[in-house]
Amino acid sequence: MLRLKEANWEDAEKEHAFIAALPRDENGFTNQDYGVGWEEFQASVLPRYIRHAKGVGLPPGYVPCTAYFLWDGGEIVGLFRLRHCLNDALREGAGHIGYSIKKGCRGRGYATQGLAMVLRKAWGIVPEDEVYLSVHKGNPASLRVQLKNGAYIHHEGETEFYTRVKRPASPPKDPYASAVFCGRM
Ligand SMILES: CC(C)(COP(=O)(O)OP(=O)(O)OC[C@H]1O[C@@H](n2cnc3c(N)ncnc32)[C@H](O)[C@@H]1OP(=O)(O)O)[C@@H](O)C(=O)NCCC(=O)NCCS
Repeated sequence: MLRLKEANWEDAEKEHAFIAALPRDENGFTNQDYGVGWEEFQASVLPRYIRHAKGVGLPPGYVPCTAYFLWDGGEIVGLFRLRHCLNDALREGAGHIGYSIKKGCRGRGYATQGLAMVLRKAWGIVPEDEVYLSVHKGNPASLRVQLKNGAYIHHEGETEFYTRVKRPASPPKDPYASAVFCGRM
C-alpha cells in the first residue's frame, strides 16, 4: 500500500538512507544533502526538514515547505516537496511541488500516484487557485506524470514547460494536511 509520510524522527534511518543517496541535481530536482552522514542528518538535516514544514527558521526568500516521503509498504520509494504558497521566484520557476522517485523504482507509476496524493494535500494547504509545476523539456516522463494528474501547459520558456493544475470545484480533502500561514511573500 502506498502512503505519504512527512519527514519524522521515527523513520529517521530510512529517511537518511534515501536522502543520502538522492542525487544532488536531477532534472532540476535538487538535494543539498546528498551523501550526508548519519550524525549530520540527525543534527541538522532532519530538524531542518521538520522546521521548514512549520515555517520556522526559513532562509530569506523561502516559503514553508513540507517534505513527504512516498512509502510502498516498508520502503521509501520517492520524495515530494510541497511549498505551501508561491513567491515571485516560485511563481516564475519551480512552483509548488517537486518530486523524485528512487532509481530502480521508476516506471511503476509511483510518481503519478504520489503526485495525486500530494495534490490532495495541496488543496487543503495552498491559497492559490492553481498548483504550479514546472518540468524540463527534456523530461517527458515527468511531463506525462503531470498531465496525467490534470495539469495543462500554461506557457513555456527556453528549457522548461510551466504547467498548472486547476483547483477542482470540490477538491478531495486530506484531513491530515496542515497549513502554515504563508503571509504575503
Ligand atoms: C520523472 C520521474 C519522477 C518519473 O517517475 P516514475 O515513477 O517513473 O513515473 P511514472 O511511472 O508514474 O510515470 C511515468 C510516465 O512517463 C512515461 N514515460 C517514461 N519515459 C517516457 C518518455 N521518454 N517519453 C514519454 N513518456 C515517457 C511512462 O510511460 C509513464 O506514463 P504511462 O503511465 O502513461 O505509461 C522519475 O524518473 C524521477 O524521479 N526522475 C528524476 C527526478 C525528476 O526528474 N523529477 C521531476 C522534476 S520535474
